[in-house]
Amino acid sequence: MKAVRLHQFALQDALRVEQLAETLPGPGELRVRIAAAGVNPIDWKTCAGGGAAPFIGELPWIPGWECAGVVDAVGEGVSGWQRGDRAMGLLNFPQAGNCYAEQVCAPADQWAEVPPPVSLVDAGGLPLAGLTAWQALFEQAGLQPGERVLILAAAGGVGHLALQLARAHGAIPIGTASATNHPWLTELGCQQCIDYHQPDALSQLEPVAVLIDCVGGDSAIAALTAVAAGGRVVTLPTITADQVIAAGIEQGLQVTGMRVRPDAKQLEQLAQLAAEDRLKLRVECCFELDQVAKAHALSQSGHAQGKLLLTP
Ligand SMILES: NC(=O)c1ccc[n+]([C@@H]2O[C@H](COP(=O)([O-])OP(=O)(O)OC[C@H]3O[C@@H](n4cnc5c(N)ncnc54)[C@H](OP(=O)(O)O)[C@@H]3O)[C@@H](O)[C@H]2O)c1
Repeated sequence: MKAVRLHQFALQDALRVEQLAETLPGPGELRVRIAAAGVNPIDWKTCAGGGAAPFIGELPWIPGWECAGVVDAVGEGVSGWQRGDRAMGLLNFPQAGNCYAEQVCAPADQWAEVPPPVSLVDAGGLPLAGLTAWQALFEQAGLQPGERVLILAAAGGVGHLALQLARAHGAIPIGTASATNHPWLTELGCQQCIDYHQPDALSQLEPVAVLIDCVGGDSAIAALTAVAAGGRVVTLPTITADQVIAAGIEQGLQVTGMRVRPDAKQLEQLAQLAAEDRLKLRVECCFELDQVAKAHALSQSGHAQGKLLLTP
């Protein structure tokens, strides 16, 4: 099988497409032939030596923590799955990755079934950003129907899913994005789009109960002023989390960082929303495995629209 492997930590050009021996699923695992794997900022950050680099063990390493495809082998002791089933998952996070490949093995309890109306391509981009959005909104922030929630980077992988989940929950999503992204974000249910390039973009905003920060650093700290007294903030970029948490606490806000975790039950709920067309995945671009450097460069630009995928 073909896979993309990292042999040394470097920002660019360190990934090679290689032919590897097929692996067999261990006890309790499924092997899935991958139709699409998501490309996320954590992938290029880890390849550069940051992100999840401390967790992944020895190089060479196959990046990619999410994918969807068709089950082609079932490990000993697995029940409820058979060859030919359609599956998607956030896998082995943060230790192993392994999804930038034609096939991957992972524990059966990390996979969720892809319901028929959802394409395997869309399903490949849903798990990491979808679970992050879900856990940030509902577990960390405890978002309630009717509450106003400000999402920084609403046009990104996590942001565009977070705004739809907030809307489906009866909350009022407000998002920051470049003006060119406002029309499609409005179509997805964003109640107010704010162009963050404008000076003092947030100064006129009526205070929000919840802030989901998908940007971090100075932008996140500046946005804290938009949060109502005692409001809740979830900051996602781990590298600036301590700064944002300290600034928020100083302002009397409840601020948490988080690390997404695999959760097949939540993934099934996300898949159901997608099947009902209440959660739409925006895919800016699909790349072949040998175009991985291009995919990482686009992700690293910080202006990908929705998700980027590798389609082996
Ligand atoms: N802690 C966790 O478990 C966890 C999980 C997932 C992601 N993350 C982190 O969360 C962040 C977001 O992830 P993602 O996958 O959503 O990223 P992404 O898809 O790469 O985000 C790209 C989007 O960011 C927007 N953007 C860039 N700078 C902005 C700014 N200053 N203000 C508002 N929008 C801005 C761009 O919109 P425009 O083109 O309109 O500028 C673009 O659409 C990343 O740092 C990622 O590593 C953390």
